[in-house]
Amino acid sequence: MEITKICCIGAGYVGGPTMAVIAQKCPHIQVTVVDLNEERIAAWNDKDTANIPIYEPGLDKIVSEARGRNLFFSTDVEKAIDEAQIIFISVNTPTKTYGKGKGMAADLKYIELCARQIARVAKDNKIVVEKSTLPVRTAEAIKSILDNTGNGVQFQILSNPEFLAEGTAVSDLLQPDRILIGGDTTAEGKKAIEALVAVYSNWVPADKILTTNVWSSELSKLTANAFLAQRISSINAMSELCEKTGADVNEVAKAIGMDSRIGSKFLKASVGFGGSCFQKDILNLVYIAKTYGLHEVADYWEQVIIMNDHQKRRFSSRIVQTLYNTVSGKKITFLGWAFKKDTNDTRESAAIYVADDLINEHANIAVYDPKVSNKKIMDDLNYLETRNAEQNANSVSSFSDPYEACQNAHAIAILTEWDEFTQYDWQKIYDSMQKPAFIFDGRNVLNAAELRGIGFVYQAIGS
Ligand code: NAD
Ligand code: UDX
Repeated sequence: MEITKICCIGAGYVGGPTMAVIAQKCPHIQVTVVDLNEERIAAWNDKDTANIPIYEPGLDKIVSEARGRNLFFSTDVEKAIDEAQIIFISVNTPTKTYGKGKGMAADLKYIELCARQIARVAKDNKIVVEKSTLPVRTAEAIKSILDNTGNGVQFQILSNPEFLAEGTAVSDLLQPDRILIGGDTTAEGKKAIEALVAVYSNWVPADKILTTNVWSSELSKLTANAFLAQRISSINAMSELCEKTGADVNEVAKAIGMDSRIGSKFLKASVGFGGSCFQKDILNLVYIAKTYGLHEVADYWEQVIIMNDHQKRRFSSRIVQTLYNTVSGKKITFLGWAFKKDTNDTRESAAIYVADDLINEHANIAVYDPKVSNKKIMDDLNYLETRNAEQNANSVSSFSDPYEACQNAHAIAILTEWDEFTQYDWQKIYDSMQKPAFIFDGRNVLNAAELRGIGFVYQAIGS
């Protein structure tokens, strides 16, 4: 079957960039991205591509090239489902906040709604692709809904997890390490796999397209995120030991990373990992293991999250301790709020938790982030429900100028590794601060010797 029409349900951090790249690389395929969120769709359709809802380097260019040609953003979900041969489901799968599995399991209600809607609308055979990250064996549930509530048409379910990282989404999509497609081993299943392989083959070399059974594909995504996050928790665990022993975690990371069996990537000690995926997916993995009675497996992976929570808390405690055991009434400036550089996404960012701890200690937090709005910062804090919105607003202010944000501060905390932080006039910042002027570098990005030379009391992670 030659694919000419694709639809993607969910115009978020995955659906938007992924479909934009498919559209750019496959001009013969009409790609429609749909979402219930009208504001988000309007932003994707904004004439000025600088206003698209997701900041990713290079994405605006791709959207302006393909949008209106063969890339469309719409709220008409049913029409897009009806017309498409392949339907990607790329909706959010957050951690459940209620009922059984609360705080651990993935909430699949949006997935189920999509499946029911596809079943209701589809009048011809469809390939349904799981793009969202899902618990292993979710395809079974989707299939059951589609087959039991559909109009007698045939559905093939494929698992095609997305491995892009935010901030590098465009290059990850253009040059993926691999494309993973899991499907049924039946003849129809194989045909569906081939159809999706053909789409990716427009720009991805054949040896990078891996096909497996559905369950391996679903579980590989959770496994990849668990392994990646585990590396960060492992190096962060060593960072605490480094601080006690005089070792330097950057040196340790370099030394072990040169071992080709270990590798040098993803060994950067930090204030703790954030983002919408790692914590959610590991908690989901832990929950799945527990439901199969695999308690040792569950405990093993849960430790990655426990370590990460510890690392965030340790960072705020260290600030309080170093500032003579009180930050009450002191201005502490956060440089960075996003969970990593080159994104406007703040989900699960370490900054939120560090700020929350310091507000509990009655600090005044000033924030500068090049891509995050004051509204987003306040929403993030209010979502925690530690205190009411007015109390949060009284404790936090945000600035569009970093020098202004740092003026009169007792301390600066680096929460995101934005490149521009290394370019600042640190002498000028020092001169405008309270003395002694402290810097807590939660990302180990600044030049320690230079800052100490200026007069700062500089503390990094793991040294
Ligand atoms: P997101 O919250 O940015 O986007 C999801 C979108 O789906 C939202 O705009 C929401 O309005 C829409 N939606 C929900 N239900 C809908 C429905 N029934 N009909 C139409 N639209 C609906 O989420 P995201 O970050 O893009 O993540 C999506 C999935 O991809 C998740 O399962 C996530 O785990 C996975 N994933 C995310 C990343 C990442 O870096 N963000 C990377 C790989 C995989
Ligand atoms: C992650 C996975 O990398 C990606 O493959 C998956 O599809 C989605 O989840 P993402 O969360 O967007 O991507 O970014 P990532 O680069 O993995 O960073 C996650 C967090 O870990 C960030 O807070 C980052 O700052 C932190 N991190 C990363 C470290 O603290 N140290 C490192 O060495 C690497």
